[in-house]
Amino acid sequence: MIQPALSHELLERNRAKADFVADVRAGLSKAPQKELPSKYLYDEVGSALFEVITVLPEYGVTRAEERLLTEHAADIVAHLPHDVTVAELGSGSGRKTRRILEALCKKRPTSYCPIEISRSALQLCRRELGDIERISIVGYERDYLAGLAEVSQNRAANERLLVLFLGSTIGNFGRLAATRFLRDIRTMLAPGDALLLGTDLDKPVDTLIAAYDDAVGVTAAFNLNLLARINRELDGNFPLDKFEHVARFNRDARSIEMHLRAKEPVTAQVRAAQLTVSLEAGETIWTESSHKYRADEVPAIAYDARFTCSHQWIERDWGFAESLLVAR
Ligand code: AVJ
Repeated sequence: MIQPALSHELLERNRAKADFVADVRAGLSKAPQKELPSKYLYDEVGSALFEVITVLPEYGVTRAEERLLTEHAADIVAHLPHDVTVAELGSGSGRKTRRILEALCKKRPTSYCPIEISRSALQLCRRELGDIERISIVGYERDYLAGLAEVSQNRAANERLLVLFLGSTIGNFGRLAATRFLRDIRTMLAPGDALLLGTDLDKPVDTLIAAYDDAVGVTAAFNLNLLARINRELDGNFPLDKFEHVARFNRDARSIEMHLRAKEPVTAQVRAAQLTVSLEAGETIWTESSHKYRADEVPAIAYDARFTCSHQWIERDWGFAESLLVAR
């Protein structure tokens, strides 16, 4: 007999694969610019490569945020509402979150609800943070918004919610989509609930290009792994050696874009999607955008989404901001 839990898991996996097939088919059929959603960069290989990116000298984002959270944890916690339950969108390894959770748990026992579509990330984060005294961890293997709705409904009447959206993941949305996403988060919150939002700040173009095109080629591997993943999971035959990683700055959007560029004409099949893709020499597949912000833009966007920015902590060596947004 099939265990109910197992059949549920199988259904979930089938649904995830159907989504992947549909997104690959739609994205690679777009003209004139082919594209693939950046969320598919993070399979097990991609997540491991991203962890390496965070220690590259060129990629200052993660270290800047860790410095901010380490230095200001007590101050950040002092500005939070009392009795918070913490929900984190995309926990990753959980390393940066540790400071905040330790400071909170020192004051009172605290529930921490990481929301992640990746099961291995959830396990990693439980291992990383499970030893904090007086913490209770309840992982949600869900989409961000579905998970947040659940956490919000499950909390006790006297509990405020603190949502963590760190790492400048919001940068992967376009500016309009970012505001829309904050609005969606806001609909699940009550006045007085809070959102701690990490944003990477504007910086010179050559610094940004180096951060997304490192000397060792880890970011190139991270990007190329998306085609390798399609080959593995969707029975594709992209010739990886005919593609190169490109990082370019889009001045209008103020974003760094990652692309995969065909070095010569390429035709490939993705059999699970019944798709044949042809690229001309020099044609690219757009795989990610990372928008950069000015610190003073964040309160304006937040206000649009019915939050008030009550505090900002800014790291100026690299250029990173942590903004505390309170639902009004
Ligand atoms: C994890 C989405 C914040 O956009 O800077 C790193 C991902 N891409 N190098 C970013 C990434 C290329 C990263 N985020």
